[in-house]
Amino acid sequence: MSKGPPTMRLDRLLANLGYGSRREAQRLAVMGLVTLDGEALRDGDQRIAVTPDLPSHMRVDGEPLDPPPGMIVVMNKPTGYTCSHKEPPLVYSLLPDRWRDREPAISTVGRLDKDTSGLLLLTDDGALLHKIIAPRSNVSKRYDVTLDRPLRGGEEKIFASGELMLESENTPLLPAQMEAVSPTHAFVTLTEGRYHQVRRMFAAVGNHVTALHRDRMGSLDLPADLAPGEFRLLTETELALVLQPR
Ligand code: URA
Repeated sequence: MSKGPPTMRLDRLLANLGYGSRREAQRLAVMGLVTLDGEALRDGDQRIAVTPDLPSHMRVDGEPLDPPPGMIVVMNKPTGYTCSHKEPPLVYSLLPDRWRDREPAISTVGRLDKDTSGLLLLTDDGALLHKIIAPRSNVSKRYDVTLDRPLRGGEEKIFASGELMLESENTPLLPAQMEAVSPTHAFVTLTEGRYHQVRRMFAAVGNHVTALHRDRMGSLDLPADLAPGEFRLLTETELALVLQPR
């Protein structure tokens, strides 16, 4: 027998999506403000099949339901925002207010520095997050790097060597690819994500990064429809691209 979609009590579903306490969710239902295919669901105790397309069937106060648990979002992170939960301004502040009260909470998939812009994924799905960042998934990350000083010429080989040791570390970096575009502009592709890695790699070869932008993860390019600060749900096809080696 095939297993159907997971079900959840309506009041818990709404509370977990940040619509308020379970009591408040019950009130929304009693008031007829929660509808499924146009019919009011007045009983907050009833179980609902939680499918990814639920927002196209369920409305809360006239608006489509927020994405159910298991969501993944792609954002064009602007500079000036942190991926931490503590040091404002946080990237989470760019999301709708209600999303901050979701259970499970939304986290960034890895981190970008405050001064780094570009492709950032966020999800409430812990298993998916670990799958993307796990070393065995080998998801590469490409960075568009602007430099203070002209490249000397040997950087590509040094980064590819698998022997570059960063200050205060005791294992060398895995080989990374560098492609020079101009004397002060290059693309760097990494498969690991050490603290401030790209900035420290260029510091190790006597240069200084003045701007850093992530434009690709796996085979997914930062979607062109996203201006800095904008985000949207990642499609299934785009998620497959993230996990697909380039
Ligand atoms: N490398 C860095 O130095 N910073 C980032 O944000 C990402 C990679």
